[in-house]
Amino acid sequence: MKVIGIETSCDETAVAIVDDQKNILSSYVLSQSEHEIFGGVVPEIAARGHMDHIDSLVKKSLADTGLTIKNMDAVAVTSGPGLIGGVLVGVMMAKGLALSSNRQYIAVNHLEGHALTPRLTEDNLQFPYLLLLVSGGHTQILIVNGVGDYDLLGTTIDDALGEAFDKTAKLLGLGYPGGPAVEKKAAECNDPEKALKTYDLPVSMKGRSGCDMSFSGLKTAVRRQAEKLKEADNLNDATIAGLCCAFQQTCGLIVKSRLKNAIKAYLKACPKDIIPTLVVSGGVAANMHLRDILQEICNKNGLHFAAPPLKLCSDNAVMIAWAGIERLRLNLTDDIKTLPRPRWPLTELKDSAG
Ligand code: KG4
Ligand code: ZN
Repeated sequence: MKVIGIETSCDETAVAIVDDQKNILSSYVLSQSEHEIFGGVVPEIAARGHMDHIDSLVKKSLADTGLTIKNMDAVAVTSGPGLIGGVLVGVMMAKGLALSSNRQYIAVNHLEGHALTPRLTEDNLQFPYLLLLVSGGHTQILIVNGVGDYDLLGTTIDDALGEAFDKTAKLLGLGYPGGPAVEKKAAECNDPEKALKTYDLPVSMKGRSGCDMSFSGLKTAVRRQAEKLKEADNLNDATIAGLCCAFQQTCGLIVKSRLKNAIKAYLKACPKDIIPTLVVSGGVAANMHLRDILQEICNKNGLHFAAPPLKLCSDNAVMIAWAGIERLRLNLTDDIKTLPRPRWPLTELKDSAG
């Protein structure tokens, strides 16, 4: 079983071909650098960028494998959530390919792509697993019961974690995308403990019940600290590194405190014959400090920890093709008339999974 996947929901144009034996037969990700000068993704520019490159990536992907579209069992595409202009470019390409070759069409939820990636990269990841989904647009803790079957335990009530990294990077002049820039800068800090004490950033929602998260207070506190440093004429490479390091550690502390409640709920729901597992996925899952913290939490609570390789954390089409394989195996294909959705919560997939 082979599926071609297409991803155009943000600023990555990506095409990949994956088979049901977990082989990645081809994968292209083209990251648009045009947005850097704007400090964020400009939807119109992103959509045009996808238009410019999608055809050639599809051609290259097929050429790599020596196959044609007729050798695919299905065409899978991100049908939302995301920037709708970009999503439409991918969807129209996918519909054209599926119609012209009489292949199955699969409208993939981008978040489900992130959520199921660890089932491709791990040897035997069984449902249900606990998922921390952390990207530029979403931050959620979910129990993944099966394909299309998600229980939401908590979500951010304001900014997404990746957004907090991006905004922090922007205000400290570190460029876009902010996550890798902040992580790199934080690594320059030679006394993380001291930095955490010095900047004393708020660990929001700590000790509260439930699993919701909040990052906007943290972002504001970083801005205030940066302003203070500037007023004292002390905003320099070393202090920026310290502030990034304190910010990153505080993000870790927020996530840790919320996961404590989530793990309790998950372990209650997890059948005894399953190895309880925490999975991290989405762009921010590339952050090594976060991974260390999650590994530590898992060791403490007797959970297995799974994280996809770095290149499959940020947006890519392998995850869309793989979600396509998972859906195709269950006959969860879609009508060619399916409309893309700018907003599409994972919890709404239950209805379509029947
Ligand atoms: O999943 P993704 O590629 O796109 C969305 O679906 O949003 O996630 C992108 C987000 C951006 O906010 C980016 O700054 C963040 O992931 N990110 C990171 C790291 N690499 C990417 N955040 C923290 N540390 C990183 N190393
Ligand atoms: Zn994503």
